[in-house]
Amino acid sequence: MPHLIAVLPGDGIGPEVAAEARRVLEATGLDLVFEEAPVGGAAYDAAGHPLPPATLDLAHRADAILFGAVGDARYDGLERALRPEQAILGLRKELGLFANLRPAKLFNGLEDASALRPEIAATIDLVIVRELTGDVYFGLKSRGTSAEGLREGRDLMRYDEAEVARIARVGFETARTRGSRLCSVDKANVLETSQLWRDVVIEVAADYPDVALTHMYVDNAAMQLVRDPGQFDVIVTGNLFGDILSDQASMCAGSIGMLPSAALGATGKGLYEPIHGSAPDIAGQGKANPCAAILSAAMLLRHSLGEAAAADRIEAAVAAAIAGGARTADLGGNLSTRGMADRILAGL
Ligand code: NAI
Ligand code: MG
Repeated sequence: MPHLIAVLPGDGIGPEVAAEARRVLEATGLDLVFEEAPVGGAAYDAAGHPLPPATLDLAHRADAILFGAVGDARYDGLERALRPEQAILGLRKELGLFANLRPAKLFNGLEDASALRPEIAATIDLVIVRELTGDVYFGLKSRGTSAEGLREGRDLMRYDEAEVARIARVGFETARTRGSRLCSVDKANVLETSQLWRDVVIEVAADYPDVALTHMYVDNAAMQLVRDPGQFDVIVTGNLFGDILSDQASMCAGSIGMLPSAALGATGKGLYEPIHGSAPDIAGQGKANPCAAILSAAMLLRHSLGEAAAADRIEAAVAAAIAGGARTADLGGNLSTRGMADRILAGL
């Protein structure tokens, strides 16, 4: 049985980079079939909704989802439910994708692209495991008036032990595939949710005696990520802290056009996308760096299809192209999106 890959290209540079990621998947020689559907603004234009039923149905049927990017200022006037960005939130929720894996690694030759000093940047090779469907983003929200008559906003931070335990397991499992070191990031000195988080992570650790577990407060983690990122192997953290720390880590690792991500659930199905958005400023010009999308395709093979060897080959081909001087504009070169992908395909 071939694996069904849903390709959801989306808006802006999404279709440009997703096409190259698909080409690389096709070049692996694996038994894959692809089905494409519109998502985001493209789907709003075609069907009046950013996540139409046919697209959601394809996502449900597929073994894995290759996602480009969504969003454009043209849709800013729409009500929130119809904005392109709702498509990605809807897919995560509908498919139960609670774990976000974001590797941040500096490729040899890109030391100067990092926001950090080259000798510090060179040491970054970590994965942030961010919880994706709980925390303050999904807790009760309200507006009201304080006792003093001032306008108030409230967002409830909440986690239950099952939500913490399942993301902790993803953290430990991820650590096992790498350097077997897991750092759990929380704010247990002041937050009740964080104390629960820490208790549960310690309980789950009993099943992973081979993984070295440490704990760090989020403010210190932010500092350590720029001071000495090489100390981290895998970081596991909640939705809010992970949102901020993963963006920070990605900037330390160089161009936004280099960094992939995976959103995983309990079933093995996952959604794979570059961390960047639709980049309207360079859309349609063939300038986008396809590496983040291509590396996302490698994650798809590893995490949803169990094809680790093919994933390794793709990652090695990207590293070889970069080491060989292949550069799109964001990396200071002049290769087109297609040209960069050709260099990677040549190395496959
Ligand atoms: P962005 O990531 O699209 O672009 C930020 C900057 O990085 C731009 O200057 C862009 O040209 C550059 N850039 C991004 N990807 C690149 C690539 N592959 N190669 C070369 N340069 C690249 O973020 P921005 O501008 O804040 O958002 C644009 C739109 O994307 C918005 O509508 C936003 O909501 C949406 N967005 C969507 C995401 C998603 O689909 N998951 C994630 C982030 C933003
Ligand atoms: Mg973010």
